Amino acid sequence: MKIGILTSGGDCPGLNAVIRGFGKYAFENIKNVQLIGIADGYGGLIRGECRALKPQDFTGILTLGGTILGTSRQPFKLMTVEDENSVTRLELMKQNYKKMGLDCLLTLGGAGTHKTAALLSAEGCNVIGLPKTIDNDIWGTDVTFGFHTAVDIATECIDRLHSTAASHGRTMVVEIMGNKAGWLTLYSGIAGGADVILLPEIPFSADKVAKAVARRADSGKAFSIVAVAEGAMTVEESKMKKKERLEKRGGDATVTNALAKYIAEKAGVETRVVVPGHIQRGGSPSAYDRLLSTEFGSFAGKLVEEGRFGVTVAMVKNRVTYNALADIAGKAKLVPIDCQEIETAESIGVSFGR
Ligand code: F6P
Repeated sequence: MKIGILTSGGDCPGLNAVIRGFGKYAFENIKNVQLIGIADGYGGLIRGECRALKPQDFTGILTLGGTILGTSRQPFKLMTVEDENSVTRLELMKQNYKKMGLDCLLTLGGAGTHKTAALLSAEGCNVIGLPKTIDNDIWGTDVTFGFHTAVDIATECIDRLHSTAASHGRTMVVEIMGNKAGWLTLYSGIAGGADVILLPEIPFSADKVAKAVARRADSGKAFSIVAVAEGAMTVEESKMKKKERLEKRGGDATVTNALAKYIAEKAGVETRVVVPGHIQRGGSPSAYDRLLSTEFGSFAGKLVEEGRFGVTVAMVKNRVTYNALADIAGKAKLVPIDCQEIETAESIGVSFGR
């Protein structure tokens, strides 16, 4: 049994822990198993770049951030585009899957990775997906690995902003990762005690945000923390096309700078913008993610033994299970705007700018 493993898309803590969980399970339980590490995600599969993984490769990587295999972003929409030799990337991947002699392929990745995995599966490759992303936006699983570590990191960032914000009497506008889904901003915003939380799912009124900050200032609270998701937008911006939105923001990819300026003017407070950026994806996975990743990795091993392909691993109601790739590919799990977490936050006075 020859099994390929690749990690694709943006990295996150827990990738190596999943690789280890799977590798250890495979060498413990599957007879004559050979594991093949594919370099840099689908990029390595397109180029045919791989190496054999030995049991010692899985030692010492449980706590290691990033991915020992390397990763890259390979846009889904380019997979079926022909190159100068009239060959598509999909075709090259299928050819290399065969050349490598793979019986199946594990794809660790986010929403884009799953779309390509579904495509490969439809083309006859035996694929098992594993749900990775700090965005927590993969359909059909309650949680993705990497998410809770990022929540811990983003929460610590917000925690640390409190003391400096309070000392100076400033409003700190902190931009949290998440372009389409606001899970990370919602969780870290509540856990870090943010006063305003802005999500891509709830277009906001900048006026209402400024008023919330001014209200705090009027009641003697000299500082405020505004947690803004990368993908947050005003009600006005939500009606625009992406290009138009970018033009309105003067080339800024996010609304954060413009919002900080608006709050300063309208609420009469001093503001600072903080962007923790890729720090939220770096370093060692949390204990939660080490456990989840180990469970996901070993479960993928069981799926291989059962010959169950064309699926992706998932956590549903605290049980590790699987979904058909065809059912989840292309769907995003966004924050429901009537969810309990938002209700809780609003009940204690957090503003969502609505
Ligand atoms: O999908 C994970 C994520 O970290 C998003 O939250 C963020 O918008 C994006 O990746 C950043 O991408 P890149 O790694 O290409 O800068």
